[in-house]
Amino acid sequence: MQVIQTVTELRAALKNQAQGINQTKVALVPTMGNLHAGHIHLVEIAKQHAQCVVVSIFVNPLQFGPNEDLANYPRTLEADCEKLTAAGADIVFTPSVNEVYPDVSYLNPDGVNLNQTMTITTPPIANELCGASRPGHFDGVATIVLKLFNMVMPNIAVFGKKDFQQLFIIRELVKQFNLPIEIVAGETVREANGLAMSSRNGYLTPAQKNEAALMQQCLKHIVSRIQHGDTDFAALIQSAAQTLNENGWLVDYVSLRSALTLAPATAHDQQLVVLAAAKLGNTRLIDNVDFLR
Ligand code: PAF
Repeated sequence: MQVIQTVTELRAALKNQAQGINQTKVALVPTMGNLHAGHIHLVEIAKQHAQCVVVSIFVNPLQFGPNEDLANYPRTLEADCEKLTAAGADIVFTPSVNEVYPDVSYLNPDGVNLNQTMTITTPPIANELCGASRPGHFDGVATIVLKLFNMVMPNIAVFGKKDFQQLFIIRELVKQFNLPIEIVAGETVREANGLAMSSRNGYLTPAQKNEAALMQQCLKHIVSRIQHGDTDFAALIQSAAQTLNENGWLVDYVSLRSALTLAPATAHDQQLVVLAAAKLGNTRLIDNVDFLR
């Protein structure tokens, strides 16, 4: 496995790979590092689709808001590389901020110099759900993902369903910018108690990890009720939010949407997704379940 920091070296390495194998397919798994079993699952999916798997590790300043955890976001490159070697990744691309955002022109709220004065403006759905409390977040995500696509030029890119709204926006990016990249979605990997794997779980105490299973239980309860014919979506959502709040969470949203458009669910939608975001202590957790009625 090669660990590469610059775009020039990355392109040279990809060219070499292409010479070695006839019709090499390249898959990209974009990450911000601090890898867990959920990321490794995405690498395994990538390996099923391509001969060359590139994993990017880049904590992207552009997608963090002023009071978010950019400075403290866990950076664990050595451990990540060990996991990726074991998983059979071919290239780890771990560029510096300057490599991704060259030249200095303005300071973002965290004091990181960025020169990305051209960014992707994401569709209105990016201002709902997680976007409502994280203004500009999905513009930052879409911009870095487009940059990574341009750097790696993959045939396939793999994203986790845990970030369902992100996955939706990236599919829109690919569609609206005519990118010749197949987006493959990986199922959410969970702890034994149902808690979705996330780099942010590292902030939870053992007691909070147990309590955190409640979010998934609330979402599954909504799914089960709807699959048994309950059509009072508003009451189901309100009751789940109340359960979480009564158990010490600070709920950002619980929402039922069309899994195809992310528009609020209607009586006619068959493919649905129920999504939630809430804070447990200081840690903001998100989860979702997509399902058929
Ligand atoms: O999901 C993430 O880890 C990030 O949002 C991504 C897609 C790597 C972009 O920075």
